[in-house]
Amino acid sequence: MAAQTDHLIGLLLGAEDDWPTAFEALARRLGVIRTPDGLDHRVSTERMSIEPFNLRDRPRQDLVIDRLAHWYYHPREWLKKASLMDDVYLLNSPFTFQSMEKHSAYCALMRLGMHVPDTVLVPYKNPVDNARWAYTSSRYNRGFDLDAIADQVGYPMFMKPFDGGAWRGVSMIKDREALHRAYDESGEMLMHLQKAVDGFEVFARALTIGPETMVMKFQPDEPMHNRYAVDHGFLAEETGRETITIAQTVNAFFRWEFNSCEMLVKDGVVYPIDYANACPDVAVTSLHYYFPFAMKALLRWSVFCAVTGRKARTQVDTGPWFDVADDPELDYQGKLAAYQGLSDEYFDTDRYAEFCSTSLPHVDEMVHEWIGSDEFRTMLQTTIHQTYPPHEWEKFEGHFGGLLGMWLSDEQHRLSSSAHA
Ligand SMILES: Nc1ncnc2c1ncn2[C@@H]1O[C@H](COP(=O)(O)OP(=O)(O)OP(=O)(O)O)[C@@H](O)[C@H]1O
Ligand SMILES: [Mg+2]
Repeated sequence: MAAQTDHLIGLLLGAEDDWPTAFEALARRLGVIRTPDGLDHRVSTERMSIEPFNLRDRPRQDLVIDRLAHWYYHPREWLKKASLMDDVYLLNSPFTFQSMEKHSAYCALMRLGMHVPDTVLVPYKNPVDNARWAYTSSRYNRGFDLDAIADQVGYPMFMKPFDGGAWRGVSMIKDREALHRAYDESGEMLMHLQKAVDGFEVFARALTIGPETMVMKFQPDEPMHNRYAVDHGFLAEETGRETITIAQTVNAFFRWEFNSCEMLVKDGVVYPIDYANACPDVAVTSLHYYFPFAMKALLRWSVFCAVTGRKARTQVDTGPWFDVADDPELDYQGKLAAYQGLSDEYFDTDRYAEFCSTSLPHVDEMVHEWIGSDEFRTMLQTTIHQTYPPHEWEKFEGHFGGLLGMWLSDEQHRLSSSAHA
């Protein structure tokens, strides 16, 4: 009998229960995974608890999917210890969080030549809560003319926190009066002024897990359940490729494994506006039709990392990227191609594809079958009951049931055509 290696995937969770239930159910169904070296592997999952730990304790997990450490510091420090001392693979690593504030990501993508809208960082409106502030600011803070800065950026613009998320403190500014009101209200938040991409045609939101990216048409003004439109041809082919390259570039550059990236498309130009998210939304009630993609990618990538013993690289290595950025011989398209190459190298994309086809060939069928099962229907129903008031249950059961039914039949079609091909 072939030797078998067991791998444990830890789930570090907050309030979510939907995708973890799906992920656990799918991981249970995986069975034995055989790698080309003839070894057999088995993967199991475990929800992690938060408790005192000795820094020399040996963790049992090979890999952890983290959804907590962006705000909860005890597990964050456990993750750092497990990464530094025990080579536990992390999606995402807290060592990459410093650059999760938007600001670093804007800087990096500007340097790489992407079309990030013009952005200015203005000093805090209110005094910083620190005994040293009064002296420092009276000596070194230089007065500035907010109107003149805004005139340079140009109206309309967005004012938003340099490290933002979840729309906190975001406002669209159309004139001077709104500018001053928003700045006065920003208080202790540190704000960017960013030129608006006014009248954009498409809002593309890319969810990336390892080397797998799904670019979705996003409708930010719709309620949560309707933000992702099911639409397969909303970008020209070349623009679609560009959005994938941008999303994968920002992840490979910062060593993010599980992230979403927001881009606005206007007149064929792709403007990245938000692409740093320690804990991207993968709720079934947001992603619906795209939920199976997310679960499949999360499962395949975490299994690939755990089973092949992929080594984490948490520190940013800017050199190869800036060599491309600074190459005077390369135009924008040339740079995109080079960035895609560097991303593929970082994520080991070819080897991953090979692994998926030889060691995980059954996952497509398995996920299709599970999404069609009573177990999935129960999970969906429970999530709807936890998310919405009773008078909306029926409506949402129809809505999400319909969208996932549509995925089931589209996927069936895809699977049978690839079987015939
Ligand atoms: N430069 C811009 N041009 C046009 N629209 C913008 C721009 N910046 C932000 N927006 C709009 O404001 C929304 C919120 O901005 P942003 O994504 O930067 O903040 P956030 O707090 O990260 O929001 P979320 O958590 O919802 O992604 C965007 O989804 C987009 O609709
Ligand atoms: Mg955003």
